[in-house]
Amino acid sequence: MIIYFSGTGNSLKIAQQLAEQTNDTAIHINQAEQSEILMSSSIGFVFPVYNYDIPVLVKNFIKKTDFPKSIFTFGIITHGGDKGNALFNLSTLLKEKDVELTYTNDVLMPVSSRIMYGMVTDKIAERTANAKAKVTHIASELRNRINNQKGGRKKHLLALISHMVESNFLKKRFTPVIDSEICTNCGICIDACPALNITEQSSKAFIGANCVQCMTCIHWCPHVAIHFKSRQVKAKQQYHHPDVKLKELIINKNR
Ligand SMILES: Cc1cc2nc3c(=O)[nH]c(=O)nc-3n(C[C@H](O)[C@H](O)[C@H](O)COP(=O)(O)O)c2cc1C
Ligand code: SF4
Ligand code: SF4
Repeated sequence: MIIYFSGTGNSLKIAQQLAEQTNDTAIHINQAEQSEILMSSSIGFVFPVYNYDIPVLVKNFIKKTDFPKSIFTFGIITHGGDKGNALFNLSTLLKEKDVELTYTNDVLMPVSSRIMYGMVTDKIAERTANAKAKVTHIASELRNRINNQKGGRKKHLLALISHMVESNFLKKRFTPVIDSEICTNCGICIDACPALNITEQSSKAFIGANCVQCMTCIHWCPHVAIHFKSRQVKAKQQYHHPDVKLKELIINKNR
């Protein structure tokens, strides 16, 4: 079983390609059933690096889930160039659940946080093509049950930055807001928010207090109505994996 989390489709695409090449099944983290996890002969995680760390939804999922012991367990992270402590933290979290991570790897992808930092990447075609080749290599290692786990060391400065980003001050800064003048109440962000944090209020979409700063809503709003308090978002800054359709990412059936 390959359990994935994805905001803009990069990790979804990698999880789908790995599942196809290893005869496995890719399941969104919100849909992974405890009973099926316990029956699995191998468990893989595929998710993006957020702020040098694991996305909070993935952390919470691992903390609350029971895993089978002594099975093949792997973690594949997608990132924009700095893996930070994501794999170290994944290994540590799983150890707390008595699970040894057997295999890890990473895939360089287009950067989904460019809105936050105002960056624009021109490497979408190059990175997605290279990623395809890397996935073929990873899939072959997974089929052969390669054990490459060397542990790795914690980068303390990056851990401090991750911690600061999770602070309430920065959380508020990076929580998106919806411009109700532009919002047409199409419902896309409500359905796509993996934290179930967007609801309909007075016939408009409204962002609640449990945002995990994944930026999924910002990237997928067809009217570019979602932005940060301090930074307007432009249509050309929106990104999603070129081969991923919105319906593949929608896992909430709210409407
Ligand atoms: C909130 C946020 C924080 C991010 N932080 C990092 C980071 O610390 N290092 C990095 O290399 N990429 C970072 N990225 C980029 C993503 O890890 C990368 O684009 C990833 O492939 C996105 O995967 P997804 O499309 O499955 O969500 C960040 C993206 C977001 C949205
Ligand atoms: S996706 Fe955009 S237009 Fe649609 S409901 Fe959300 S904010 Fe409104
Ligand atoms: S409100 Fe937007 S940024 Fe926050 S968790 Fe939902 S989709 Fe992600």
